[in-house]
Amino acid sequence: MEIKILDNKQQVAKVFSEYFAQLAASTDKLTVALSGGSTPKIVFDYLAEHFADKIDWSKIYLYWGDERCVPPTDSESNYKMTVDHLLSKISIPEENIYRVLGENDPEEEAIRYGELLDATLATTKGIPQFDLVLLGMGDDGHTASIFPNSIYLWDSSRNCKVATHPDSGQKRVTITGKVINQAKNVAFLVTGESKKEKVKEVINREGEFNSYPASMVNPTSGELIWFLDQEAATGI
Ligand code: 6PG
Repeated sequence: MEIKILDNKQQVAKVFSEYFAQLAASTDKLTVALSGGSTPKIVFDYLAEHFADKIDWSKIYLYWGDERCVPPTDSESNYKMTVDHLLSKISIPEENIYRVLGENDPEEEAIRYGELLDATLATTKGIPQFDLVLLGMGDDGHTASIFPNSIYLWDSSRNCKVATHPDSGQKRVTITGKVINQAKNVAFLVTGESKKEKVKEVINREGEFNSYPASMVNPTSGELIWFLDQEAATGI
């Protein structure tokens, strides 16, 4: 595990973007699971502004680690956020983009997307393998859309499951622990003071860490990198 502590959110965006560009340059094809949330948004802005013509986007294949079950035009859609902040500003072939169809029946979509991962990604030990999974962490220790009150979803035998947001009741499709931990690289992007308690417990493995899905992230044959700002890292 590697932990990068940067001065502020902008530095997190910059250093992550450089890491991403390096990964892209090192391979002919890079499969990436994106995440929603406020930190990826800043990262997408940075990539769009500084790396639009520095990365060969035609070899990047984009998926989502989790998606809200809303149409792609809804302001809650992680796909829409990515279009607005990144995809509309770079040149990437349409066929490289595998969005979760948030407008469809959640249970059926979780099955379809899980099968799509099997069909389009390389597999190792029968499990689809992303080159890179981007994750955020919520103030409650959730990651992807696996929340503490449904942490059992982490150990599902399926690639994707339907999760329910504990407060809003919103349905989401999320990849499960076996897919996350099979990735070649997992990058946690976590910024802001509200994250400092959980970051401390998860990284130091103390307190209630066992009840937070973010603590289960441990890519067995891959690399885990945390990109934190000073505020989020205060406690470690
Ligand atoms: C989502 C996300 C979610 C997010 C965390 C952190 O769709 O809501 O994928 O898991 O990464 O909630 O979000 P922030 O970066 O906004 O704190």
